[in-house]
Amino acid sequence: MKVAIIMIKQEWIEKGYIDESIPEGLDLKAEIRRLCEEKNAVVLAHYYTDGAVQDVADFVGDSLALAQIAEKTTADILVMCGVHFMAETNKILSPEKKVLIPDLNAGCSLAESCPAEELKRFKAIHPDHKVIAYVNTSAAVKALTDIVVTSTNARAVVESFPKDEKIIFAPDKNLGGYLNAVTHRKMLLWDGGCHVHEQFSIEKIVELKSEYPDAKVLAHPECKSGVLALADFIGSTAAILSYAEKSEAKDFIVATESGILHEMMKRCPEKNFIPVPPMTGSCACNECAFMRLNTLEKLYNTLQYEWPAVELDEALREDAKKPIVRMLELSK
Ligand code: 13P
Ligand code: SF4
Repeated sequence: MKVAIIMIKQEWIEKGYIDESIPEGLDLKAEIRRLCEEKNAVVLAHYYTDGAVQDVADFVGDSLALAQIAEKTTADILVMCGVHFMAETNKILSPEKKVLIPDLNAGCSLAESCPAEELKRFKAIHPDHKVIAYVNTSAAVKALTDIVVTSTNARAVVESFPKDEKIIFAPDKNLGGYLNAVTHRKMLLWDGGCHVHEQFSIEKIVELKSEYPDAKVLAHPECKSGVLALADFIGSTAAILSYAEKSEAKDFIVATESGILHEMMKRCPEKNFIPVPPMTGSCACNECAFMRLNTLEKLYNTLQYEWPAVELDEALREDAKKPIVRMLELSK
């Protein structure tokens, strides 16, 4: 389906129906704001996107905040500068709105690690289990679950189930393992992970700690347990940001996608944020390549041509909506 849309678009560009070239010297930020005004559109951006994209957005947030905004906004058009599951969540919650994403290829390795058909088979083997799914999943996976969580509300949602409830947690095994530890549960964990958060090097955190002995280590729960064991604070992107703001510490070693440093430095210019390098020294693996597909140029074109739009089958949307709404109700 995605491939088909891209092929049609390519054909239209070749035929000259769509001219995606951007006029030289165009003030992209001003044009993006003008188009938003003209079309009653809002731009939502995740903390992992490029700083320039975050700066032009109407709202910047973690995955929970972005879903909450999508549910409430009165805009006609939502442009989700994030990854596909985030735009899909917006469409599930606001079907009457046009939901756009600057690049349809902005996927998520974690969401990819849990195909709906495989989860369906796993559920059939464990029919007495409830299913909790991380928001980093496709609509088809969400439709198979009892409730969705984000890293902000995951602990509270798990704790809302009786202690002896049998639960499958999918797809992130690191977040699931962390939740099992802090809530004293034995949820069955799906074997999925995020290619960015699984790359952080324990050795490099230890080296950084000896260089900055007073630094606080901040980690996203998608990191491996060895990294989490070294953390002074574990939380979602929004929780990490607010911890850094409130903390008396001056130095912070940050084990999550490095795009978050933009907002950290904006909020706390007097503090020092050190991104944890990945295991293999030379790559930029602490950047999510999918998030970085969101550029000002693509955002401008998306607003201009109202393309690409996220579309969903109505029955699937209804089924996927229920567990998201349950989560939003619990997170009020
Ligand atoms: P947050 O829910 O903390 O925004 O994280 C989303 C995500 O994709 C982390 O990799
Ligand atoms: Fe997905 Fe990982 Fe990118 Fe988050 S950082 S969007 S979990 S691939």
